[in-house]
Amino acid sequence: MRNLTIHSSTHDYDVLIGSSLRHQLKDMVKKEYSKVLIVSDSVVADLYLEDVKAAFSNAKVSDAIVPAGEGSKSLEQYGRLLDKCIQEQLDRQSLIVGLGGGMIGDLTGFVASTYLRGIDFLQMPTSILAHDSSVGGKVAINHPQGKNLIGSFYNPIQVVYDTETLQSLPAAEIRSGYGEVIKHALLSDASWYDELKTQLLKNVTTEDLEDHLMAGIKVKAGIVEEDEKEHGVRKYLNLGHTLAHALEAELGYGAITHGEAVALGIAFAMRVSEHKLKSDLPILSYLEWLQLNDYPLHTLKSANPKQLVHRMKWDKKTVREEIHFVLLKEVGSPVVERVNDEELTEYLEKFLEEVNHIEQRN
Ligand SMILES: NC(=O)c1ccc[n+]([C@@H]2O[C@H](COP(=O)([O-])OP(=O)(O)OC[C@H]3O[C@@H](n4cnc5c(N)ncnc54)[C@H](O)[C@@H]3O)[C@@H](O)[C@H]2O)c1
Ligand SMILES: [Zn+2]
Repeated sequence: MRNLTIHSSTHDYDVLIGSSLRHQLKDMVKKEYSKVLIVSDSVVADLYLEDVKAAFSNAKVSDAIVPAGEGSKSLEQYGRLLDKCIQEQLDRQSLIVGLGGGMIGDLTGFVASTYLRGIDFLQMPTSILAHDSSVGGKVAINHPQGKNLIGSFYNPIQVVYDTETLQSLPAAEIRSGYGEVIKHALLSDASWYDELKTQLLKNVTTEDLEDHLMAGIKVKAGIVEEDEKEHGVRKYLNLGHTLAHALEAELGYGAITHGEAVALGIAFAMRVSEHKLKSDLPILSYLEWLQLNDYPLHTLKSANPKQLVHRMKWDKKTVREEIHFVLLKEVGSPVVERVNDEELTEYLEKFLEEVNHIEQRN
């Protein structure tokens, strides 16, 4: 088992990573809780809920299951979960467990942060992508007008990452998780990035996975410890996200996974870096890696650059209608630059042409 302690403004918490940790929760959760509410989604609950319930046999355990998918990060499910907390009479000595991917982590964390002005919250991430969402303390639900519009900063008391649960992830979710892993590598460390690029996702072993999750969490933790509330360096974590958010919205949520969109967005951010900063980045080999691992480059075929730029302008991260783009001077060295509409449209047109050309060759 691996362990990393994260320092936040409210408290320190441990991230534990290892195989079959869900069966050892009793030894890991240090405080005694009289009541525990486990929140999960319909897919993950079928697979792992009973194991987690069994681990809390000393407490009065209840559970709440929401439908799988981003749609459950809603005011409706948030309200339902609060009803459940009240019905179960959870108090300040109770624990809420989020068992699932990033959707469950964000939703459950937001419930825990607001119920009785905050009760203890344990994250049990079950997706690779959730290495990103389970640390850093951002919790939120969506509003019909946009993603993560209602939320708060609220850190868990612990993160228990059972890597055995990742074995049931479908291929698209593995690609999604690795979109954020590769982002963390590009933000921090050229040699780790080079090593990751030799990795075929279908051959990842549990050992590799533990290394990658730990390394990714270290990068994220280092950044959020320096800038918890996103006034400065935390913005770097948006590498690849400007195009990704626009693409996700344009294709319709769920058409491709978030991390897949990020992986494509990173390729574009590399090209923009080249134009704006004269950076010399390994773009072609990155695009090759995306292809080898079946990232959905084909979705860019039908994309309309003007429409995408319009969406990028309305991204939550936009400041006074100017797009602030995370770029790379070199691998491991991010900066934020303003890019105007005309430039962006021009770069995007070129990029879409390049990707379509690659796609046609295959
Ligand atoms: N708070 C943050 O800092 C932060 C950062 C990044 C992403 N997020 C949020 O995370 C969410 C995306 O997370 P996600 O990609 O994990 O999505 P998700 O939780 O919706 O999981 C994706 C799919 O995988 C399934 N799944 C999860 N674990 C599984 C397992 N072990 N076996 C089989 N299937 C499994 C789920 O049922 C779901 O269908 C978004 O809502 C995003 O906004 C938050
Ligand atoms: Zn992301």
